[in-house]
Amino acid sequence: MQAPQDPNPRLFTPRLTLEPQQAGHAAVMAAALADPRVHTFLPSSPPQEGDLRERFARLETRTSPDGAEAWLNWVVFARAGGAALGTVQATVRPALAEADVAYVLAPFAWGQGYAAEAMTALLGFLAGEWGVREALAQVDTRNLASIRLLERLGFRRTGLTPRADMIRGRPSDEYSYRLALDSRLPLG
Ligand SMILES: CC(C)(COP(=O)(O)OP(=O)(O)OC[C@H]1O[C@@H](n2cnc3c(N)ncnc32)[C@H](O)[C@@H]1OP(=O)(O)O)[C@@H](O)C(=O)NCCC(=O)NCCS
Repeated sequence: MQAPQDPNPRLFTPRLTLEPQQAGHAAVMAAALADPRVHTFLPSSPPQEGDLRERFARLETRTSPDGAEAWLNWVVFARAGGAALGTVQATVRPALAEADVAYVLAPFAWGQGYAAEAMTALLGFLAGEWGVREALAQVDTRNLASIRLLERLGFRRTGLTPRADMIRGRPSDEYSYRLALDSRLPLG
């Protein structure tokens, strides 16, 4: 599986622009992730802008230190008004033609189909340009919005890992989800 010429390009949907994430996005993303509700089912907490800037700068390499994985990250902006809504990301393992995917949106953007729209573009890009054949996701069993989103996108539940993680001192059980991408047409 060959990496595309631009591994992490700008992507467009009818209502959204997915910009390749850069250190310069730290301020808008710190604002988007400031609400504790974002982190209810995640081990993370509202981040400091400086910490995000450092993390985003490190991620600009777009690869794992050993080169085995591509680490792809986008900041999701509303085309109308230009607000930063959140992020979508993919960890691609080219040798296996598979990718882990993840997504986080600010609460003001929830419930309007933005996550489904952004993820449809991401999955189309991964299938069409990277040749990814299987997308994988992990989700806390209580995270109904994320479960609904995955099932809406066509993901199938494949497993349950009790105590997969700790979230603020309490165990988090996780479902595993998979989506075969063979039949998915690449989106524009
Ligand atoms: C998960 C998340 C990205 C969903 O974003 P969203 O933009 O609200 O999702 P969408 O509007 O595209 O909705 C997708 C589906 O989920 C449903 N949904 C949205 N919020 C829901 C909720 N609180 N409970 C149940 N279903 C919900 C929608 O109705 C829609 O289903 P439908 O198309 O059948 O109507 C968002 O809730 C979020 O960022 N949460 C915090 C971070 C997080 O938990 N990330 C996932 C980690 S695995």
